[in-house]
Amino acid sequence: MTMQIIVLPSGRSAALATAQFLARLLRAQRASVLGLPTGRTMIPVYQALVSLHGRGRVDFAKATTFNLDEFVGGGSAEEGSYRAFMRRYLFDAVNVSRRRTHFPGEQDSRSGTYDDMISAAGGLDLCLVGIGMNGHLGFNEPGSTLTPGTHRVRLMPATRRANAYLFDGRIRDVPRVAHSMGIATILGARTIVLLATGAAKASIVRRAVAGPVTTRVPASLIQTHPNALVVLDRAAARELGRHSARDGGLKRR
Ligand code: GLP
Repeated sequence: MTMQIIVLPSGRSAALATAQFLARLLRAQRASVLGLPTGRTMIPVYQALVSLHGRGRVDFAKATTFNLDEFVGGGSAEEGSYRAFMRRYLFDAVNVSRRRTHFPGEQDSRSGTYDDMISAAGGLDLCLVGIGMNGHLGFNEPGSTLTPGTHRVRLMPATRRANAYLFDGRIRDVPRVAHSMGIATILGARTIVLLATGAAKASIVRRAVAGPVTTRVPASLIQTHPNALVVLDRAAARELGRHSARDGGLKRR
């Protein structure tokens, strides 16, 4: 197991370090293929990337992105969609080519499945992930089994509640069904970076990084990845006694 855990003093510094890690990859390899998540945790990461882009420190011109998940249908799904989220916080503010941004469920039959498209792009160089309060990764919800490839999922009530912020707080407007990269698709990335911040995530972070590997905590599967980096702020790390806060940037390995 080579999972590396880095604890930074604040949510802001954890987000900044994560953004710098992505920027460093894009500088080393302009045509990187990125798996990207949504979620409130990621907003400061995308804001930092926009700021780095504004200062000429990161270039998305040759990047290809595959988002982890997307809702299926639903009344105001367009407004609350993950594509709308990504446009708002990242895509519209950087020079990514719109035709190289992808969301599950949007592909046409000629391009094959979402997983075929990821393979055709050369596979994910880096997959950035957040963690749901129930340990979900993307929309891979806890259960007795997990689906390896990109698939449709029925969202758990708690997950719909956690996503209501995208629908002006109206849980009933949050779609019940979504598409998600599968767990094997995520674990197929050459590097995985998990970012979690805030005290509310401390317990699930402990279960994900220090508990048993189990489909009941999908994020725990990251422990099996050969090149995984977990970036936490002190609050999210507070149940991981033996890891002390450490400052400084992240190294690419
Ligand atoms: C959603 C997304 C997940 C994300 C999770 C955490 O459910 N589908 O990919 O990790 O939210 O969100 P937050 O950062 O808002 O806690």
